[in-house]
Amino acid sequence: MIITNFKTYEQATGDKALELAQIHDAIAKETGADIRIAVQAIDLKNVAKMVTIPVLAQHVDPVHFGSATGHIVPESVFMAGGAGTLLNHSERRLEREVLRQSIARAKEVGLMTIVCAATPEEGASFLEFDPDFIAVEPPELIGGTISVSNAQPEIVENAAKLIGSAKLLVGAGIKNGDDVRIAMKLGARGVLLASGVTKSSDPRAVLMDLVSGLS
Ligand code: G3P
Repeated sequence: MIITNFKTYEQATGDKALELAQIHDAIAKETGADIRIAVQAIDLKNVAKMVTIPVLAQHVDPVHFGSATGHIVPESVFMAGGAGTLLNHSERRLEREVLRQSIARAKEVGLMTIVCAATPEEGASFLEFDPDFIAVEPPELIGGTISVSNAQPEIVENAAKLIGSAKLLVGAGIKNGDDVRIAMKLGARGVLLASGVTKSSDPRAVLMDLVSGLS
């Protein structure tokens, strides 16, 4: 599985989010690969109606319809065509109790949950909340040029032991098919990445290379 987090990159916002999403969608169709994307809340509806791959929110709040000004209600994500949500990303960390409630609320609505963790140990501690996937991303490698697969393969191995391969995603610095191949070989189910695709002048070529690492 390959999940591209569009973050708030300008190249992945508004009309460009749609264009980038359609590239992901086309490659998923061509290759049969499991490709998903996490877009900004404001772009979610526009993107989700134009692609068939799962579109995730980057965050939801543990709130209900009603008095929650400025929050993201999980139901709204679902109604906009969202398939799930990231939670506790390194750039949007949550208190443990808030995370627990957010996962529960997302599940109530039928949203898939991908919970991010800074270390394998932290990721394993989230198993009790039963998210669909746990993405281990060493913060110091996020947005960098060296991938977790290459820089810290022991993190992937350790995460596979502690979390189990079925739920394990890894991320940070993933840029090419070799990074994906190593991560999968070490026990990950897939990868979560951003800049390798969003900042590329040829995201289609990067994605095709990334997909080659899945087989
Ligand atoms: O959510 C994915 C992310 O934090 C990794 O970012 O740019 O290192 O692929 P990047």
